[in-house]
Amino acid sequence: MRILLIGSGGREHALAWQLRQNPKVTLMSAPGSTALADLGEVKPIAVDDIEGLISLAKDMRPDLTVIGPELPLVLGLADSLRSLGLAVFGPSAEAAKIEGSKVYAKDFMIRHNLPTASYAVFYDPSEARNYIKDASYPIVLKADGLAAGKGVIICGNLERAKAAITELSKLEAANRIIVEEYLAGEELSYFVLTDGQTIIPLPSTQDHKAVFDNDRGPNTGGMGAYAPAPLCSPALEKIIMETIMIPAVEGLAAEGTPFCGLLYAGLMISLSGPKVLEFNARFGDPETQALMPLFKGDLAKALLAAANGTLHEITLDWDNRSSVCVVMSSKGYPGPYSTGHVITGLDKVQELSDIYVFEAGVSKVPRKVPVDGVDTWVETPLTDGGRVLGVTGVGDTLSQAIEKTYKAVSLVNFEGAHYRTDIGAKAINQGPLYDTNE
Ligand code: AMP
Ligand code: GLY
Repeated sequence: MRILLIGSGGREHALAWQLRQNPKVTLMSAPGSTALADLGEVKPIAVDDIEGLISLAKDMRPDLTVIGPELPLVLGLADSLRSLGLAVFGPSAEAAKIEGSKVYAKDFMIRHNLPTASYAVFYDPSEARNYIKDASYPIVLKADGLAAGKGVIICGNLERAKAAITELSKLEAANRIIVEEYLAGEELSYFVLTDGQTIIPLPSTQDHKAVFDNDRGPNTGGMGAYAPAPLCSPALEKIIMETIMIPAVEGLAAEGTPFCGLLYAGLMISLSGPKVLEFNARFGDPETQALMPLFKGDLAKALLAAANGTLHEITLDWDNRSSVCVVMSSKGYPGPYSTGHVITGLDKVQELSDIYVFEAGVSKVPRKVPVDGVDTWVETPLTDGGRVLGVTGVGDTLSQAIEKTYKAVSLVNFEGAHYRTDIGAKAINQGPLYDTNE
């Protein structure tokens, strides 16, 4: 099976690694990365170069295209490839609006009675400024469009909210601003695979968005994740499926925009029940890096079935152990950071069992180093992004997974390496929620 994978990050490395567990799979990636180049051919075509990606697909005629990031989905890559008769894992542009426009997503949730925070939408920043004067704090301000993690600001008071409106107004994504009720609770990432009809849930996960321990500091793309989330009891999963995921997939189909791919609900779990913070139209990053080592089947077959509308023929099997992914990032991220620092220790980590290193921002250059006293050209990994590596460990329990992962992380080093030391820690003593049939 020839698969074209769109993307270049840690999520795509994890997907590619799992896809390649099927020996019949050959992979081509665009734009790819050095890690993806070890797993197949790469073509340096950017994820927003839709014409370039279409002509690559025309030449390659892949049996399946898997679209990793949201941007090409929102730009309609899946539609174009489907119109060429190709099988695509990923929703149409219309269905991807569930991620691409927060206003659309909120209105959709109201139309289909999905639990979410109350909100108001403003086309004009001055109207939003007026509205926030009488709001009760904290409140959350959001830009409508894709903003790479910069579009959501939690405001504790009026002063912060005023500044936030100014900040958001500078973003292209903020043609509309949402003022939203603040929800307290535990966050959960809940993924389902769907072909538009059949819906298969994946194990629950939790992301850690803030850059520093104890959820301090600015939000990032994600500093680590674990799976499964102990708080997500079977009873809670039932509530999530029945009140959120099933009505969402059915609602999208009923509106003429059936969703094919991975539907990701970012949830806030409180004692009043799960509520949707956002929907994403693709696999989460770094949740996927925590999930893929637990997957025990043929991922290519499952994604192809979702693409072809035959997901009812598939079951997904998972290792019942726990996993933790710790992201190692460049000093300064999510602000400005420098790159090109030599990464050491990856060879030592390779010797460990149940440890997987997924590369998010790594380049490799040949450098002369002494090997057994002889100068030898060796490919040297260098940092090449804000998020550099995702180190995932699998253990019998969450505590064991955490211990193993941090042991591996301690072996890896680069100048300015930063990582959170508390990924998964909060979950260790967390009991399941909604565990009874009250
Ligand atoms: P979003 O992109 O909408 O998921 O927002 C990014 C992050 O902001 C979420 O993961 C939450 O941590 C936080 N957030 C978003 N909306 C709310 C809300 N209504 N109440 C509390 N926190 C929120
Ligand atoms: N883990 C957050 C995201 O993928 O959007």
